[in-house]
Amino acid sequence: MTGKKRTKPTLAEQADKHELYQQSVQNVDFELAFMRDTYRDLRGSSPHSLREDFCGTALASAHWVAQDKANTAMAVDIDPDVLQWSREHIVPGLKKKARERLELVEGDVLEIANEPVDVIQAFNFSYWCFQERRTMLAYFTRCHAGLKDDGMLFLDAYGGHEAYQCQVEEREVEDFTYIWEQAAFNAVTCEQRCHIHFRFKDDSELREAFTYVWRIWGAKELREILEEAGFSKTTLYLQAFDEETDEALDEYIATDEADDYACWLGYIVAEK
Ligand SMILES: C[S@@+](CC[C@H](N)C(=O)[O-])C[C@H]1O[C@@H](n2cnc3c(N)ncnc32)[C@H](O)[C@@H]1O
Repeated sequence: MTGKKRTKPTLAEQADKHELYQQSVQNVDFELAFMRDTYRDLRGSSPHSLREDFCGTALASAHWVAQDKANTAMAVDIDPDVLQWSREHIVPGLKKKARERLELVEGDVLEIANEPVDVIQAFNFSYWCFQERRTMLAYFTRCHAGLKDDGMLFLDAYGGHEAYQCQVEEREVEDFTYIWEQAAFNAVTCEQRCHIHFRFKDDSELREAFTYVWRIWGAKELREILEEAGFSKTTLYLQAFDEETDEALDEYIATDEADDYACWLGYIVAEK
């Protein structure tokens, strides 16, 4: 006997950060529907082949192949651990045939080569890790090469003056609190360091569960680089707000008009 009292693990110690991320950050069914509907509106047919860049746990790809027997997905991430998590937690939930239509690829999106697909998505601002213009151009050029002639690239973006500030935002999600921290910002280079933390009902915390260092890019500059990479047309779809309550809506409108918003969210759609 050591006489040491065994303490119960805290909720933070028991938590799986990838599950928390999926519950608090991702809304893959909405994003896939936006992608499919936008493609249909612009092309008059449905997209079936997807490349999911910066896929993390490849949740979007898994939903995509489960949605339609004709759908295929190639999910790319540079981190073998996150792909292994997907093999253990996401892939087993798919039917055998759907599993066969999903390919998990460990690789750098700057080097990836693939059979051309209908759509490529890079969501949750992951592509902002490329901070130099020439690297962003190289990435967009690689995406252009990875798309069929009528293919489209879907990106997300945010802006407004709050994007350039250090701040902390909290949101209740089921039985935990999601905390987004913009921890540091370089006003000259626009490099931002952000963290995701999680807090639980027993007050335990998972600090810096995820950390990102990226550049806050301007939407206009991104669209110029996309055109330089060969895309024939780009459109910004801006998230709509309820005019009375100021609540953000699940509705995105193609527009270049914006007021002096504190923050905005949107999608950039680039047509090959
Ligand atoms: C914020 S997560 C994105 C997860 C998911 N796409 C989403 O929408 O929430 C960023 C992912 O990008 C991956 N990543 C970073 N640089 C990469 C690169 N050059 N090529 C491929 N994946 C990369 C990281 O390993 C990480 O899993």
